[in-house]
Amino acid sequence: MTSRNKPVEDNGFQRPQINRTRDLRIPNYYTEAIDGEFRDYAFNEERAPLNKGHWRSEIFKVKEDVAMDLEIGTGNGTHFQHQAVQNPTRCIVGLELKYKPLIQSIRGCLRKSATNARICRYHAMNLDLLFEPGELNNVYIHFPDPWVSPRKPKNRFVNERVLNLLWDLQRPGSFLDFKTDSREYFLWSMEQIRQSKYEIVFETMNLHQSEVASDNFMTQFEKIFTKQGIEINFVRLRKK
Ligand SMILES: C[S@@+](CC[C@H](N)C(=O)[O-])C[C@H]1O[C@@H](n2cnc3c(N)ncnc32)[C@H](O)[C@@H]1O
Repeated sequence: MTSRNKPVEDNGFQRPQINRTRDLRIPNYYTEAIDGEFRDYAFNEERAPLNKGHWRSEIFKVKEDVAMDLEIGTGNGTHFQHQAVQNPTRCIVGLELKYKPLIQSIRGCLRKSATNARICRYHAMNLDLLFEPGELNNVYIHFPDPWVSPRKPKNRFVNERVLNLLWDLQRPGSFLDFKTDSREYFLWSMEQIRQSKYEIVFETMNLHQSEVASDNFMTQFEKIFTKQGIEINFVRLRKK
């Protein structure tokens, strides 16, 4: 980690920092496309937080009662695009750190004429710098990095702090979906979830053999893990 992306102390929370796109020494098509070809649909780490509190009115140009969902770690965007295309009356924001999947995610939406999607290069742990309380509807967390090393559970995204944060950011009646291939991460997160304010609507340690299997959309990583014979853990939570 370089000095410019060392964590920054913020009210006792060590905020993870990411490098700035404009400081990259060797730009490429994907790094340049954020502020270039896809500027109206993609936001780098400097522009993204300027949208806080204004996503509906200024970015999507929709009424305040229109639903706006969030997908964290879109990867190449198969689920992100599916959501945008299948739900043209909702909006969706994606977060992704890596440039190529970020551009693939938003480019795929636009190629399918889904203009109800936006994507940000932003660290998911800093969500509260992107959204105001009550600004979000449904949230999707599909196969986040599991951080299975015993010294690293603080890096796991589905933790007590993030659950409290998401609860504040979501509107009542919204759901939060979490899928992971890691049984260890799932069991650890379920302990955090049971202490949280969320209602558990459905939980399974074998999604594809469960009663919700027919409604499930398989993400890119889900297909990879399933081919390897790994059972998928899934929980749906609801903010009452
Ligand atoms: C294992 S992949 C899963 C991708 C996709 N959700 C799927 O199911 O196919 C995890 C993705 O999360 C992204 N990611 C990891 N840490 C992140 C963070 N702190 N903020 C935003 N995205 C992150 C990675 O770049 C990667 O594309």
